[in-house]
Amino acid sequence: MLKVTKAVIPAAGYGTRFLPATKSQPKEMLPIIDKPTIQFIVEEAVKSGITDIIIITSHQKASIENHFDRSLELEMVLEKAKKYEELKLIREISELVNIHYVRQKEQLGLGHAILCAKTFVGNEPFAVLLGDDVVRNDEYPAIKQLIDVFLEKQRSIVGVQKVAKSEVHKYGIVSVATPITLEHPTAKVIDMIEKPKLEEAPSEFAVLGRYVLTPDIFTYLETQQAGLGNEIQLTDSIRRLAKDTEVYAYQFIGKRYDVGSKIGYLEATIDYALSRKDLREDFISLIKQRIK
Ligand code: UTP
Repeated sequence: MLKVTKAVIPAAGYGTRFLPATKSQPKEMLPIIDKPTIQFIVEEAVKSGITDIIIITSHQKASIENHFDRSLELEMVLEKAKKYEELKLIREISELVNIHYVRQKEQLGLGHAILCAKTFVGNEPFAVLLGDDVVRNDEYPAIKQLIDVFLEKQRSIVGVQKVAKSEVHKYGIVSVATPITLEHPTAKVIDMIEKPKLEEAPSEFAVLGRYVLTPDIFTYLETQQAGLGNEIQLTDSIRRLAKDTEVYAYQFIGKRYDVGSKIGYLEATIDYALSRKDLREDFISLIKQRIK
């Protein structure tokens, strides 16, 4: 039985929707209150039993690498100032998990970014978590849910949720063999289309940033022609994989935030602020004042 211990986090996109903030730092470093988005993603992977993470970065990799590294100077400053809580916090970040980095030299698309992880992944199934999608489920992390489905099926799994009709044109949409319901959250994938028009969408179930993939995906990615937006699309390769072997869609449970979009980012910030003991009260009174 194959286990899943490795995860790939692609973080090399241009993040054009967040310019100018993303001019000199990856959007994955934008904080939700005080924690960079990518740390939420790394923590989800760690809670799900992942022991090695590879982050696909661009030329702006320094800030991500530094974030997960030790900062001896800062540690000394905090120690001197007797700020022990902060000291613990920043030390813990560097002790979370083994993180490796690979540079995607040209931003040719998500499929190409995943292909950059081939040597690291080797011949093992692996998880993929997109930095754009934060999923909240503290008890049962989304990627752990997918890994559990993988352990049963031993086939590639794409994490899906239903999106509004007005949103299907933004996502990879699946066509499945049986209806996806709460009781039956897993269904065989028949086809997948990247960002279809509503008339062409085979369902309202969108792939939302969580995957467990078998290593045969690399064979498809290596020969993948550029698709929509002239990018090498992961969706197109999974689609071809699904024609040759079984691939499953699984409806994961958890509130998902599209933090790559401005409104999704604001939504995440509001929800996380409301759930923080240290901020909730002040935040509510601030909002009340503002909307008076
Ligand atoms: P997106 O298409 O959402 O990211 O890719 P983007 O292109 O950075 O964002 P916008 O649309 O311009 O604002 C989804 C994920 O794939 C990664 C991104 O970093 C993001 O996590 N990605 C995308 C790469 O790593 N490399 C690429 O060539 C493209």
